Amino acid sequence: MKNTLGIVGLIVVLLSACSKSEDGGTKPFFYIPDGFPDPVYQFQNNPVTPEGFALGKKLFYDPILSRDSTIACGSCHQQFVAFAHSDHRLSHGINNLLGNRNSPALFNIAWFPNFMWDGGVNHLEVQPLAPIGNPVEMDETMANVIMKLKRSNSYPALFEAAFGSDTITTQATMRAMAQFMGSMISADSKYDKYKDGKVNFTNAELSGLQLFRAKCESCHKEPLLTDMSFRNNGLDANFNKDAGRAKITTLPQDSGLFRVPSLRNVVLTYPYMHDGRLEKLMDVMNHYHSGIQLSSTLDPLLSTGGIPLTAMEKNDLITFLGTLTDYTFIHDNRFKE
Ligand code: HEC
Ligand code: HEC
Repeated sequence: MKNTLGIVGLIVVLLSACSKSEDGGTKPFFYIPDGFPDPVYQFQNNPVTPEGFALGKKLFYDPILSRDSTIACGSCHQQFVAFAHSDHRLSHGINNLLGNRNSPALFNIAWFPNFMWDGGVNHLEVQPLAPIGNPVEMDETMANVIMKLKRSNSYPALFEAAFGSDTITTQATMRAMAQFMGSMISADSKYDKYKDGKVNFTNAELSGLQLFRAKCESCHKEPLLTDMSFRNNGLDANFNKDAGRAKITTLPQDSGLFRVPSLRNVVLTYPYMHDGRLEKLMDVMNHYHSGIQLSSTLDPLLSTGGIPLTAMEKNDLITFLGTLTDYTFIHDNRFKE
């Protein structure tokens, strides 16, 4: 008996970090893609297991996390658009209430030192508390969520399988969600394959990449396509509507600064900017070319009046941004509801 248990245990350990991927091989839930830096989130303290990942996924797609069971995390973060909210300028939550920011896409977040457009949350394991408690998102208390999970037919056994105890706690709930969301890795776009020497770029894509490296890379830094800093890219001349980073730090010099978004999957994640004000990538090009608003916190890189771009350069940049779409990620069955 002891022996059998030992073997079962060994098999569980061997399987624990892997799952079946699309090509039938096994791919670890979490891995560091070639060329990526070390992640910020410490998976050593919360190792991903198939059971923990599965529980995190069920929670992510379960409207039980909202007050009236109408809204799930997955309602505003949809896989087919890289976990952004398709075609929504502002987030749209419980009772059809609108938030004041655009739902960001979710991927590579294990590399993020902080979350939200203003960096107001600094740990992946507390991130879900923000939408759950937000009156215009899910409008629920964690105490109620825990009570509902405890009463459910399925959750106690799932927590037991994932964490070895059927006592449902906020920490275990957050850790399961961190296992699921932290495993969302996007690193298999045409751009990644080009960098690996597996595919060629067209002339327009190459020219776009060169332009990107000359004009955009200082903020949208490879390979994550963001340097994670907070910057003012000249959308507004005053920040009465949304002070951005200053909401968190209260420093006047942080007014109008927002976290530089990753541009991976950007073709899918329209509309653009923290409030979704720009509809198309061409609008974004026109913004950088001729729409920069001067203010005291405007980033020095843009303070000479923006980034001059010819019509051809705008098109080439957009063509290059198209190579950042990761079809493997948006079709990955492991993340499907
Ligand atoms: C009503 C729509 C809505 C729902 C429901 C929702 N989110 Fe979000 N999510 C947003 C918006 C909007 C933001 C950006 C908020 C901000 O910057 O102030 C965001 C930000 C995030 C971020 C940070 C991403 C980044 O780039 O910093 C994560 C992670 C996240 N949400 C996960 C979740 C989880 C987990 C749930 C479920 C518990 C959830 N969201 C439910 C709209 C939503
Ligand atoms: C000075 C730093 C900086 C430079 C240079 C810069 N950006 Fe940005 N970019 C930002 C910031 C900050 C935001 C988010 C602003 C906001 O929403 O308030 C942003 C947003 C974007 C978005 C919207 C993404 C989304 O998910 O909403 C796109 C697309 C974009 N930039 C493309 C470019 C391109 C192309 C270039 C080069 C022509 C460029 N950026 C140059 C800082 C920069």
